[in-house]
Amino acid sequence: MISLKKTTDITDTDGILVTDPYNLRYITGFRGGEGIALYSGEQGVLFVDSRYTEAAMRETKAAGSGFIAVEFNREHPLKDLITEKLKEDDVKTLGFEDRFMTCSEYVSWKEKLSDFILKPVEDHLTELRRIKTPEELRLLRKAEAIGDTALAAVVPLLKVGMTELEVAAELEYQMKKAGAEGLSFDTIAASGLHSAMPHAIPSDKKLEEGDFLTMDFGCRYQGYCSDMTRTVVIGHANEKQKKIYNTVLEAQLKAMNELKPGMRCCDVDKIARDHIEEAGYGSFFGHGLGHSVGLYIHESPALNTRDETVLEPGMIETIEPGIYIPGFGGVRIEDMGVVTEEGYESFASSPKELIELKST
Ligand code: GLY
Ligand code: MN
Ligand code: MN
Repeated sequence: MISLKKTTDITDTDGILVTDPYNLRYITGFRGGEGIALYSGEQGVLFVDSRYTEAAMRETKAAGSGFIAVEFNREHPLKDLITEKLKEDDVKTLGFEDRFMTCSEYVSWKEKLSDFILKPVEDHLTELRRIKTPEELRLLRKAEAIGDTALAAVVPLLKVGMTELEVAAELEYQMKKAGAEGLSFDTIAASGLHSAMPHAIPSDKKLEEGDFLTMDFGCRYQGYCSDMTRTVVIGHANEKQKKIYNTVLEAQLKAMNELKPGMRCCDVDKIARDHIEEAGYGSFFGHGLGHSVGLYIHESPALNTRDETVLEPGMIETIEPGIYIPGFGGVRIEDMGVVTEEGYESFASSPKELIELKST
């Protein structure tokens, strides 16, 4: 079983109630998302309703998670099953995932489990997911490779008159065609002045000659997410566009090349941020340099000015500097990769030199 004992020790609890769907999947191996896992007495139980009983039994076993799947229903209500196990295991203090529970869910659990002390476990469960296993790395690599395949298919289609929504639709179609089971977030296709908004929503704006076009897209492959951004110019890039693009690219490459295990996340962010600042664009890079990725698109630790986590081999990070100038446009370049013993290995293989789509 995945070091849940360590988590109960750290949090000084006798058991943990797991309700976040991503932690649930990570810990039990169950992919259905809807269920409640309870770990106490060194035995994990996954409670599901009849829609999921068969899959839960099969998947917990196949994952070798050590959890057993139990169905709750009218004859065996969830509250009774949980209370029974907690009493059996002599639990006094039960940890719960405060970061992932709504107020009303908490109020309801507090009422249902009034014989026990509920204690928040903060981020301790999520932290278990930080260092990826070789199998997780394989799936993340594959997810990013699907993004590469999709981009290679979409770039030749880009032309003046195509809308941002069409660009996003093509990227999504190509990712699905290449084996994606879904998206890891809403695809971004932002052109012209819209590219100055880091998380613009694709619109019916048509691509125009001279536009920057930022495409930020990702998929899920066997549950694992990918994340990639490329910016191209529709037609010829002017000198200012080239300067901005190259500044972002240099910042990204510098951070990638200098990242080493043992460094703090905030120090990696500083490498890229300093480069952009020195070029005079410091105030146009408002977001963090990157974030971890796994079953969820934004995991910890994150490369930003505040996160002091020390990077370790096996952690995933995106490296995604950007410069966004309101009334002009913006550029972001993003790869996802892994911290290795030596440094950082990007999983993305899409080209990064400025693409000018001059055929239009
Ligand atoms: N598209 C979300 C991100 O890059 O973080
Ligand atoms: Mn992204
Ligand atoms: Mn990202």
